Amino acid sequence: MATTEAAPRAGAHERSYEELEAIFANVDAPYALVDLDAMWANGAEMMARAQGTPIRIASKSVRCRPLLAAILERVWRKHPARPGAQRGSSGFQGLMTFTLPESLWLHGHGFDDLLLAYPTADRGALAELAALDSERPPIVMVDSAEQLDWIEAAAGAGGRSIRVCIELDVGWWVLGGRVKFGAKRSPIRTPDQARALAREITRRPRFELAALMGYEAHIAGLGDHPLGKRMQAPLIRLMKRRSSAEIAERRAAVVAAVREVSPVPIVNGGGTGSVHLTAREPVVTEVTAGSGFFAPTLFDRYDDFTLTPAAMFAMPVVRRPSGGVATLLGGGYHASGAAGRDRLPAPHLPRGLRLDPLEGAGEVQTPVIGAAAASLRVGDRVYLRHAKAGELCERFDRLYLVSGGEILDEVPTYRGEGRCEL
Ligand SMILES: Cc1ncc(COP(=O)(O)O)c(C=O)c1O
Repeated sequence: MATTEAAPRAGAHERSYEELEAIFANVDAPYALVDLDAMWANGAEMMARAQGTPIRIASKSVRCRPLLAAILERVWRKHPARPGAQRGSSGFQGLMTFTLPESLWLHGHGFDDLLLAYPTADRGALAELAALDSERPPIVMVDSAEQLDWIEAAAGAGGRSIRVCIELDVGWWVLGGRVKFGAKRSPIRTPDQARALAREITRRPRFELAALMGYEAHIAGLGDHPLGKRMQAPLIRLMKRRSSAEIAERRAAVVAAVREVSPVPIVNGGGTGSVHLTAREPVVTEVTAGSGFFAPTLFDRYDDFTLTPAAMFAMPVVRRPSGGVATLLGGGYHASGAAGRDRLPAPHLPRGLRLDPLEGAGEVQTPVIGAAAASLRVGDRVYLRHAKAGELCERFDRLYLVSGGEILDEVPTYRGEGRCEL
């Protein structure tokens, strides 16, 4: 278990280069770190925005088992339940996982409230799930009868019932559906479609309908001021406002329709960027958040909340091609999504550094330029931030956990435990 129990610190403090350098004086770069003081402050910020609605942690955005356990075990300051809430909050509850092998692995380590957010076609893992001796096996995601057929075939005859979650499309459609905002995920959109799939699930003895989920990627995962697209900000705000209102109405109608068929207990929605909006919907029983703990650069661009950078990685300066350029080893850790500048890692400390637009962040070398570059020497370290949260953990096998002025612990990432998910 990680030694994460640093005394809680008031407010969020952004560490300086000098502080980090003092802490890591005897550690050779590359290394990755999580500032626990910032991470706990970010968790508290999200809890405050959730207004008493429990938060399920997106495991893909943390990818470190000791940290996931520490967040779940922590005693968080309670927030009063919002008016009309179905339950009061006890903070962070359960995990939203991203692959079935990961879910089974976590389940084997004692995590028993698992909702797999993406459909699986992994026959071996489905057979394992069907054979699992557990009161609360992981819930798997479906949006079609085709997937139910696949699961039944993979699970084989006999065995336990498979708990499933229906995913609802919560995209915003305008001009009669000719323009669509939102991730291309589920075909289930209307109360009638959801009711029909719920009937199909309950008609098949192998399944139990356990949850309904709708993730508003175009609200939660889209900053209000995307990098290099300043003109879009007012349109994004408008889209988010209109879409949130439409989702609230439609989700309520879908939940009512599904409950005509089955008393689906879990209604999940939201992400770090929309916790405060999704939690307001009376039918929502829980929201999801993960990225907010690490606060990667994509989450610097929201109007409604401010998080503190918590996860970063340090790369050493290995050469000086010229007076104004310092070249780091490696560093080319791009984030997933539509390729663009906003997906690049960002030099964070010392202040006054940026990537060279001609080279970006490289596989084996990353030149940095800017005012601070001239004073960097071979062996100095530059701290960078990833654009997204959990993907950083695919590049490092351990994380240094920092609190106050010291390294509290060193914990394995998923990768460090030999996991290779996605
Ligand atoms: C289904 C689902 N819910 C919630 C989230 C939000 O995760 P985070 O808070 O890490 O942005 C995601 C992220 O992609 C997701 O796919």
